[in-house]
Amino acid sequence: MANRGGFSNRLGFIAAAAGSAVGLGNIWRFPFEVGDGGGAAFVVMYLLFCFVLCFPVMITEIAIGRKTDKNPAGAFKALGYKNWSFVGKIGIFCGVLILSFYNVVAGWSFGYFVEISMGHFDIGSRFTEFTEDVLTVGLYAVVFMAATAFIVSKGVAGGIEKAAKFLMPTLVIIIIGLVIYSLTLEHSMEGIKFYLVPDFSKITPKVIYKALGQAFFSLSLGMGALITYGSYVDSKENIVTSAALITLADVGIAFIAGLMMFPLVAFMNGGDMTNVSGGPGLIFMTLPGVFQTLGPVLGVVIGSLFFLLISFAALTSTVSLLEVPVAYMVDEHKIKRNRAVWIIAAFIFIIGLPSLVGNGYSAFFTNFITYFGAESSTNFMDFVQHIANDSFLPLGGCLIVFFGAYVWKKENLNEEIAKGYPGYKGSFVEMYINFAISYLCPVVLGVLFLLTVLNQFFSLDVMDMLF
Ligand code: PFF
Repeated sequence: MANRGGFSNRLGFIAAAAGSAVGLGNIWRFPFEVGDGGGAAFVVMYLLFCFVLCFPVMITEIAIGRKTDKNPAGAFKALGYKNWSFVGKIGIFCGVLILSFYNVVAGWSFGYFVEISMGHFDIGSRFTEFTEDVLTVGLYAVVFMAATAFIVSKGVAGGIEKAAKFLMPTLVIIIIGLVIYSLTLEHSMEGIKFYLVPDFSKITPKVIYKALGQAFFSLSLGMGALITYGSYVDSKENIVTSAALITLADVGIAFIAGLMMFPLVAFMNGGDMTNVSGGPGLIFMTLPGVFQTLGPVLGVVIGSLFFLLISFAALTSTVSLLEVPVAYMVDEHKIKRNRAVWIIAAFIFIIGLPSLVGNGYSAFFTNFITYFGAESSTNFMDFVQHIANDSFLPLGGCLIVFFGAYVWKKENLNEEIAKGYPGYKGSFVEMYINFAISYLCPVVLGVLFLLTVLNQFFSLDVMDMLF
């Protein structure tokens, strides 16, 4: 498909997919979800979900994409199951929702790069004011969306990925440097204990479904991003090894981001880890003060570089998010790529406005909704995340594996996987994939989806009702 644009076939698929996976989800969202979820117990659930449940979903998505060379909705049609294209459409809808708020947070990161470059370390304590200054953060968001649209429209993703190949290792080195530094600070061990020593009594239904939503979000799964990217994979490539590398890179970076954050949080809180809240503001409120302790020169250099690199990591993810609806419009509705890109980007930016103003500026969007039985209200950005990340991504994953196992049929899926993996047939890996997509994933993901909806939106605790 010559006109898929954006990415060339020569592009290293793993680099692109890892670029999509590694982003704000790892460095911004993972630490605050761990904080909200009570620490190490959440981490254990998250790791389990990534390797046991998400891995087979990832393989299925890539295989469907490679087989069909299509966007998520078109892929189901191309396999001969038009009725199933609704799964792809749900995914595209999810991608649009995710990009709408993701772009706002990416704008914050970019804004922090600017602020810290100017030596404004107090920006951490002014985080709320910062997000309420909607004109400034709005401008950052415009810049970010425009950069994303430009990259997707010009198809310069090859260049961006080359840059990312160099920038991501730099980000990892800085984070590891910060891990080492954070371990030298007072109270760091309290932070490490919170992060790594699980207290299993903290596992509640909420921790479970939050960990699942985070696993899907972080791995860019359940919405067909990897169906779209899978269409760029050569059939000589081994899908299983690629999926393993993407998962390891993504989980690895989230894990070290946590190793960096929790000693720092403990340091800032004087060792008190009983109430690690902060939510979406966690990294933004904690890190500037820590950079300040590095001194005026080193603090500015490391701090601004850190936020610049996070912005880059976010950019490779926003590019993949925008690519999904664009590929759909180009393939299915025959709209010219360039036009599709700018119209969709503008549309998503507008859908993101409530997320932009819902962090204090607009009372309406800040207290947007109060779920049945909930004590407090939820702002628009969190509401979108509850719907898209926590509910629809796992549902999408469930439907995709179900489709692979029972509709397209696992023999066909396995044949596609085996193309780049000669010893696959009859191997242990094949047995596991078959078991996972036929039973484990559909059942667990289906049950957890119901649990999420009942608990998140209706405050119903199924465990309590059953036992
Ligand atoms: N995986 C990205 C992150 O962790 O930041 C977010 C994301 C990108 C989610 C692309 C979904 C997606 F399709």
